Amino acid sequence: MKETLLTDFVEPVPFIKKATKATSTTDIESLVATLGVTPEQDYAFDEEKPERGWHSGKFHWVPVGRERGNAGRIKHANYPVNPIAERTINGMEALIELARQREMARNNSTPAPKSPREAIDRYFGIPALDVLPKLDNSTQSKGIRAKARDLARQLRLRLVFDKTLREFTVIIEDDGVGQPPALIHKTLLSLGSTTKADKLYLIGVFGQGGSSAYAVSKYSWLVSRRAPDLLGGETDGAGWTVIKHIFPRGRRDDYFAYLACHPDGRVPFVSKVDADKAGLAHGTRFVHAGYDFGRGGSAITRQLYQSMNHVLYNPLLPFELYVGPTSAVVYGNGYRLSSLPSRGNLPLFDKAFPELHGGTRGRS
Ligand SMILES: Nc1ncnc2c1ncn2[C@@H]1O[C@H](COP(=O)(O)OP(=O)(O)OP(=O)(O)O)[C@@H](O)[C@H]1O
Ligand SMILES: [Mg+2]
Repeated sequence: MKETLLTDFVEPVPFIKKATKATSTTDIESLVATLGVTPEQDYAFDEEKPERGWHSGKFHWVPVGRERGNAGRIKHANYPVNPIAERTINGMEALIELARQREMARNNSTPAPKSPREAIDRYFGIPALDVLPKLDNSTQSKGIRAKARDLARQLRLRLVFDKTLREFTVIIEDDGVGQPPALIHKTLLSLGSTTKADKLYLIGVFGQGGSSAYAVSKYSWLVSRRAPDLLGGETDGAGWTVIKHIFPRGRRDDYFAYLACHPDGRVPFVSKVDADKAGLAHGTRFVHAGYDFGRGGSAITRQLYQSMNHVLYNPLLPFELYVGPTSAVVYGNGYRLSSLPSRGNLPLFDKAFPELHGGTRGRS
């Protein structure tokens, strides 16, 4: 069966430009409405025969992991910030993997780093982040600190609040290795399978960490493009899809599904030429719209910085955090604790972020 093409419904460049700017649930709904999509109640995914009932020329909702009973595994995160930490760690790993794959392309007999820290040292030349504040004031140390600050630009976490819909959206973007369109369903959208198990220099191992974010979002979407020098025979281009929670009519077994362009599970994509025209570089972006922070709601705008520093105590790489118009670099509490004495007890734990919606109470 032929895959369904975005070009059957829309002009690809304006569409992907618009799609990569969608930050609210209504933005996402109106994008999906421009495509030919078989309603979820008209297609029952069958793992053995996914092509059964597939309407040629339409996009279809296919279960994440191509596993109809995926809800239990996706709903496993205890606290709403945990999925954000999972995605952020995936982003760090994507940056390490980009460097490792490029090293292998130069000489594929180079032994792999034996730990994530060794990888960071080898590829980025920075020590564990809690060591940074302890470095002296030499030009060399200043250079290392500047390098760390600069690296943070390659991984960005954003918290956006939509005033009209009164909903939060969490965006995680990395400039890492990315995934080719034809492999996104087997990697970014897989469940219980990982590309990392034999890589001692990465962290992930269960193949499900990132997916926990779907459970706390009304809609998610992703876009990913593999670094063009590391395609390994795959076709260049950018893959894009939307993920949502489906409650089948008259049944109790809800599940999470994404838009697929083919019964084998592949996602919609734009060509290399169109990805270039739309200005999509390599890396991955996940947008989780209508994010449910649970009790406390709007307090997250003040607390996300503290929470991320807490959950990622001594992260491998620093990253940028944007909350509305305010930004900061997250280095982890290990770094912040090392900083205190040398900075004369400045109130480092009180980085101020504004309320994103005029100080009213949260939704909970
Ligand atoms: N930012 C990213 N860039 C490129 N590939 C990614 C990215 N995030 C996830 N992946 C791919 O998706 C797969 C699933 O990610 P996920 O976080 O669910 O599992 P994992 O990282 O392998 O293991 P764990 O469950 O321990 O986090 C990864 O193995 C990797 O192949
Ligand atoms: Mg992971």
